[in-house]
Formats: sequence, structure tokens, C-alpha cells
Amino acid sequence: MNATSIPNTITIDGPAGAGKSTLGEMLAQRLGYLYFDTGVMYRALTWAALQRQIDPADATAMAALAHDLTIDILPPTVTDGRQYTVLVDGADVTWDLRSAAVDHAVSVAAKHPAVRTVMRARQRAIGQRGQVVMVGRDIGTIVLPEARMKIYLEASLGARAARRVAELQARGVPADVAAIAADVARRDALDQHVMGRAPDALVMNNDELPPEQEVELILQRLAEVRE
Ligand code: DC
Repeated sequence: MNATSIPNTITIDGPAGAGKSTLGEMLAQRLGYLYFDTGVMYRALTWAALQRQIDPADATAMAALAHDLTIDILPPTVTDGRQYTVLVDGADVTWDLRSAAVDHAVSVAAKHPAVRTVMRARQRAIGQRGQVVMVGRDIGTIVLPEARMKIYLEASLGARAARRVAELQARGVPADVAAIAADVARRDALDQHVMGRAPDALVMNNDELPPEQEVELILQRLAEVRE
């Protein structure tokens, strides 16, 4: 750790469906840290745009919406399998953010530099409070490059698609493996421009280790970094 690093901050980046949220939540629980999934902010913005009939491709309108929107991410307020509760201008939209319409449009909404500037500043402010596991695509590289520990989580396309199918089925949403795999690949291509692996990130492959073992490995590494 160098003199400028932010203590008690862990970042997890990686592609869609790599298992970042499972790992992030487990790790945060073990450490007593806040678990913060930054993808939710881009999803909330997308959901609000669709509600207001704003075109997610319209950079100016989307940046204005990002400025105006109040997005609150709270501990779960309902016991229904959620990891957190998301409020957009006070309304609980937690499950709406997982709809196919949001899935489809979110990469387009997240690509505008002016949108990213607003979101990254908010994420950074939360990260700087410390005691947080922050999950996303550009957290270790851009949002919190001074984080104490950075993880980059990978997994094969097949495993990522299978995870997404299982998540949908668990919520009673029918899912076709081939269609989901195609969608994951499409999102990879769209997210490529923000996806980054910090040079000092610990790279883990989710095909090889279950999350429980990943957590142990990270805790071990964290103890070494602290020494
Ligand atoms: O992780 P997710 O699938 O919930 O992310 C939703 C979208 O937001 C996805 O298109 C990638 C984008 N995203 C981003 O650009 N930067 C982040 N830090 C997190 C997510």
C-alpha cells in the first residue's frame, strides 16, 4: 500500500456474469463493509430514461438526466432475494432494473462520457468513505485507482451465460441458454471500451474456484497487503 491509497477499499471489476456480485457480497459480509454494485447506477439511469421516453442514445438528454436523478442504494428493505434496495426519485425500482428492456439499453446509456463523469464522481465519493467493496467495470482503473486491493474476475462465456440463466430461472423468468449467451457476448462488445484490468489487480478465474475459496484467497492477500 502506498501513502495515497484509500484504506479499507476493495474493487472488483470484470465482464457481465463473471460472478462479481456473489463474490462482492460475500466479501463485504466477511469484512463488515458496504457492498456497492455500480452497475445499478447505470441501470437506474436507463430505467428512468425508458420511463420518460428519453432515447438512451441521446448523450445530452442522458447527461442531463444523470445530473437530475436521485439514485439511492440502501440495504434490502424487503426479504425477496435482493442484495440491496434501489430507489429512483424515491420509488423502489430494485427488480425493474433487471428487466430485459433495461438489460438491452444499459450499455448504450453507459457509454456517454458526460454520463460516466457524473456516475464516477458519485461512486468515488462513496468509495472515499472507505469500508466498501465496490463492483463494476472501471472501478480499479478509473473510479478508485488508489484502492487498497483490486480484483479482476474472469469467467468463460459459457459459465457466464449459465449463471445468468440460473438467475433468471430463480426469479421465474424463462430463459434460453443460446439467446442469453448471445446477449452476454453482445454486452461484452458494447462494454469493451470501459472494461479495464488494473496492472496491480489480482486476476481470478471463476471457472476454477468457487466464490467461498475466492473470498479466502482475497482475505489472505489482504492480510499480506496490510503488513
Ligand atoms: O454489471 P451490470 O450488468 O449490472 O452493468 C450494467 C451496465 O452498466 C453494463 O452495460 C456495464 C455498465 N457499467 C459500466 O459501464 N461501468 C460500471 N462501473 C458498471 C457497469
